[in-house]
Amino acid sequence: MTTAQTKTKAQADWEPRIVAFCCNWCSYAGADLAGTSRIQYPTNARIIRVNCTGRIDAEFILSALDKGADGVLVSGCHPGDCHYTSGNLKLRARWAFMEEAVKQAGIDPRRIRLQWASASEAQIFADGVAKLIEQVREVGPIGRSWK
Ligand code: FES
Repeated sequence: MTTAQTKTKAQADWEPRIVAFCCNWCSYAGADLAGTSRIQYPTNARIIRVNCTGRIDAEFILSALDKGADGVLVSGCHPGDCHYTSGNLKLRARWAFMEEAVKQAGIDPRRIRLQWASASEAQIFADGVAKLIEQVREVGPIGRSWK
């Protein structure tokens, strides 16, 4: 097998790895419900539970990408439903900065996604994971070239 064939096989075998930061009060429960409801969605996501999306900053996202995640999903309560009143609104206000920080690091911003999914919106959570996986597939493996 030649190097070109090996690369092609490696590319064919590549599966995006996603880190999903989920708010404990809504999206984490939504992800759990997706599992218990047997809703089909890509298994590529590793979920990290946070108390509120207001806790997320650019360092979390860049660190996940630096450690090998091909994409990062942030999923929290709908605006107006944050358990801590305004954490998600503060994140939403900072999201443009997150995208800019990712771009400044030389990373395609299609690797990150912000969504809102309540505890009962398992399908929305699952669809968000699938959408991010689709976006990440378009840009390919993250590699280490962005450093
Ligand atoms: Fe869910 Fe704030 S508690 S986003």
